[in-house]
Amino acid sequence: MAVLVTGGTGYIGSHTVVELLNEGKEVIIADNFSNSKTEVLDAIEKITGKRPRIYNIDCRSAESLEKIFEENHIDSVINFAGYKAVGESVKLPLKYYNNNLFEAVTLLEVMQKFNCKKFIFSSSATIYGDPGVPEYVEEMGRGKTSNPYGTTKAMIEQILEDLYFSDNSWNICILRYFNPIGAHESGMLGENPNGIPNNLMPYIMKVASGKLEKLNIFGNDYDTKDGTGMRDYLHVVDLAEGHVKALDKLDKEDSGLFIYNLGTGTPYSVLDIVTTFEKVNNIKIPYEIVPRRPGDLAIYYANCKKANEELGWVAKKGIEDMCRDSWNFEKNLQ
Ligand code: NAD
Ligand code: UD1
Repeated sequence: MAVLVTGGTGYIGSHTVVELLNEGKEVIIADNFSNSKTEVLDAIEKITGKRPRIYNIDCRSAESLEKIFEENHIDSVINFAGYKAVGESVKLPLKYYNNNLFEAVTLLEVMQKFNCKKFIFSSSATIYGDPGVPEYVEEMGRGKTSNPYGTTKAMIEQILEDLYFSDNSWNICILRYFNPIGAHESGMLGENPNGIPNNLMPYIMKVASGKLEKLNIFGNDYDTKDGTGMRDYLHVVDLAEGHVKALDKLDKEDSGLFIYNLGTGTPYSVLDIVTTFEKVNNIKIPYEIVPRRPGDLAIYYANCKKANEELGWVAKKGIEDMCRDSWNFEKNLQ
């Protein structure tokens, strides 16, 4: 009985594979390495002592997916595969709709064919849109998304609801991540985006390592404690553990459609992250305040009560861990 992890060599997928292997689960990875490197497999093996079987396939190919189901006894699927760059999705919407939607639908069709109905999906806080309050609760439902990437997440959530409505023997868990940052404490796994990063922590890493001159802080005139945007940053290892708990939940249930926020519930400002990073790593991060980034909200964070109560999951790591572990990984890339 194995768990198929699509996108299992990516940032969140690789950390989740480590936690699954540490729990004694058999893991099969499907990834086309469009945004990851084969060395991730060596890191997973060094950390866990186990090397999961990997299929280098595009998950939009039903034929390739079917081969995995024919060759292994797949009991459940965690679906991380997809494109995730917000800015690129605005410029190249068809690339995002093609990859993210076709991948998910093809995978679900193959699962249905093989009568495998346990599915965990990587969604995002972005699906809430702008609900007008900072604390996001699952019951609020989906709002208007601000970019094609976010729309693919909202659409796949809808597809999963329609699928469950049509056949309620499916056992589905939608996880809405807030802002995952940090890296494995070994320093061997982490996030290493190509090109100039868009997200805060990867950008800070490039400034800390001298590859970029300074951080641009997008606005200090928001209605927040110091005027900079506030987010619910979450350590990627806590997030990975959330997937193990979600799988445990599905193992206990016969069927259902479950939705959980995964965050810490505590928002931090851009300046909080900068000053904490400087303190724990003893590295100065030069920055400049620049105009707001279009589409950004002042503040939002997760209400995590449901995940706490129903999954028995709680984020354990704080922003000091996140800043230290991120840098520990980045240093190894130098
Ligand atoms: P990532 O890009 O590091 O990992 C995605 C992996 O999927 C990569 O290894 C890539 O090679 C693979 N992939 C992409 N398309 C594929 C395809 N068609 N077939 C096979 N493999 C394919 O991204 P991540 O940060 O690990 O995110 C994982 C999932 O979580 C994504 O679906 C993302 O949208 C979602 N998510 C991420 C964040 C975040 O901040 N990182 C937040 C919310 C949701
Ligand atoms: C962004 C996406 C969101 C996606 C998430 C994870 C946008 C508008 N939102 O969220 O859809 O799910 O990434 O991939 O792109 N900041 C700076 N300078 C920087 C980078 C960021 O000041 O160079 C600030 C931002 O204004 C924000 C905070 O840092 O206040 C976090 O930004 P980021 O890491 O990009 O995440 P989100 O915008 O929350």
